Amino acid sequence: MGVVVLDGKRISQEIQEELKPRIASLVRKQRPPALAVVLVGDHPASQIYVRNKIKACRDLGIRNVEITPPGDITTAELLKLLAPLASDKSIDGILIQMPLPKQIDAGLVTTNVIDPSRDVDGFSAYSLGRLVLNEPAPRACTPAGIMEMLKRYRIAIAGKHAVVVGRSNIVGKPLALMLLHENATVTICHSRTQNLAEECRRADILIAAIGKPAALTADHIKPGAVVVDVGMNRLTDTALVEKLFAHDPARLTAFAKNGSTLVGDVEPRAMQEMASAYTPVPGGVGPLTIAMLMANTVQLAELHCGAS
Ligand code: GUN
Repeated sequence: MGVVVLDGKRISQEIQEELKPRIASLVRKQRPPALAVVLVGDHPASQIYVRNKIKACRDLGIRNVEITPPGDITTAELLKLLAPLASDKSIDGILIQMPLPKQIDAGLVTTNVIDPSRDVDGFSAYSLGRLVLNEPAPRACTPAGIMEMLKRYRIAIAGKHAVVVGRSNIVGKPLALMLLHENATVTICHSRTQNLAEECRRADILIAAIGKPAALTADHIKPGAVVVDVGMNRLTDTALVEKLFAHDPARLTAFAKNGSTLVGDVEPRAMQEMASAYTPVPGGVGPLTIAMLMANTVQLAELHCGAS
């Protein structure tokens, strides 16, 4: 059997389609779900992510409130600006786009502004604690999307060896716990792991979430593994793009036109040649994050409106 390209875009559309009757029911009974999005400063990648999140809200009829303070705001000023949001009970979920500028105390802002009942990102200590205990709470969107995709593609997890490369609070750690709850044997690798390639080659399911372009190669992939590439790295270096996409003339043509292209944390050609299934970049994990954000918003709205 040939390699399966795990189509995150299609799964994302499926998930969002399934939310439509739930949103319609909320509108009929009470009000549309509402999501507040806070984007501090003008981080270029964050601007794109936030634009896509707001577009998804609009397409689904989720009310959105956008707050965009300047990048030089202080922690105290930000807390003051967001205080009305923190007490606005008509908002179901509050998302503060990460990363925040360096001068901001991110922990202080998120704990003061986002109470657990509106933690749509699942980043709070409360939600993460509930995840450790495998109790219901909003789950971090990227790992939750990956789990949903594995489920919908009927990729077996129980008893498999999953290797998660990356230990961030947003992806690596929560994903490792989710895989563990589905009875995978889980290894977490990170920047200090010795013999990374050897660890990765033991993976039936390999998750790359390190934020380094094409850092994992054919040497890191067991033949027939399922590879999930969470990376989204923008490349402008012509020589590097020509090397990484020598096998993909369409990508090279698009690069020549646009001057940049996206690559994940795994060499694209290595995934195609070694994996039994893999997520492409773009079109793999990215769209799933947005779908799960919408799902979390609807779920919180249902709780707030007493509909579930
Ligand atoms: N930055 C990168 N991914 C995310 C995410 O899922 N949520 C937030 N709030 N910030 C991010």
